[in-house]
Amino acid sequence: MKFKPGQLIKTSWINDEKVSFRCVKAEDTYGLLNHLNGLVKEKAFIGLNRVLTRREGIKFVEKLLESMKEGDVPLIIEVNKKVVGWGDLRPGRHSRSHVAEIILSIDKKYRKLGIGTRMIKLLIEIAKSLKIKIISLTVVANNIAARNLYKKLGFKEVGKIPEGRRYGNKYYDEILMVKKLVH
Ligand SMILES: CC(C)(COP(=O)(O)OP(=O)(O)OC[C@H]1O[C@@H](n2cnc3c(N)ncnc32)[C@H](O)[C@@H]1OP(=O)(O)O)[C@@H](O)C(=O)NCCC(=O)NCCS
Repeated sequence: MKFKPGQLIKTSWINDEKVSFRCVKAEDTYGLLNHLNGLVKEKAFIGLNRVLTRREGIKFVEKLLESMKEGDVPLIIEVNKKVVGWGDLRPGRHSRSHVAEIILSIDKKYRKLGIGTRMIKLLIEIAKSLKIKIISLTVVANNIAARNLYKKLGFKEVGKIPEGRRYGNKYYDEILMVKKLVH
C-alpha cells in the first residue's frame, strides 16, 4: 500500500474533540516544528536534544516527505487544525524489510487521553498491511510513560545500550523494545 502526503487515515473522538490521524504534508512544517520544539523545551526524552530552527524544520518535513517515497509512513495527529502529535512507521530496507521502527510523541496538553495508544495501534495495523513482522523502537530508560504504554501494547524489552542517549551533559540508558506481529 502506498500513502500520499496529507492522506487521511483515521478519525476518532476524544471527549468532544475530533482527532485526525493523517499523513504528513508540506504545510505541516510550522505545526510540526512547534510540536517538536515544545517537546525539547519540556526536556522530553525524544530523539532531538535541541530546538530546531525554522530552516531545519523545513528540511525535517522535506525529509519526511522524501521518506514516504521509500515506504515510511509519517503520521500527524491533528485536533482543531493544530498538530498535537506525530508518529512514524519506518520499515527497514533489504534484509530488514520485515522489521519497522516506530516513533511517537504527543503534546503535553493531549497526553493521558489514549491518543498515544490509538496511534500505536494504528501504526501496528498499517505495519500488518505492509507485511511487517517485527516492530522495534528505543526508549530512554527514565521515560516511564512511554515504557508503560509500549508494555501495555505487548512490546517486550529485549536489550539496553548503557548511556545510549545524551541530553545536556547527562547520559541515559536506552532500552530496545520489540513486538512480534501476529498476522
Ligand atoms: C509517551 C507518550 C507518547 C504517551 O502518550 P499518551 O497519549 O499520553 O498515552 P496514553 O494516554 O495512550 O496512555 C497509555 C498508557 O501509557 C502509560 N502512561 C501514559 N502516561 C503515563 C505517565 N505519565 N506515567 C506512567 N504511565 C503512563 C499508561 O500505562 C497508560 O495506560 P493507562 O492510561 O491505562 O494508565 C507521551 O507521554 C509523550 O508524547 N511523551 C513525550 C514524548 C515521548 O516520550 N515519546 C516517546 C519516545 S519513545
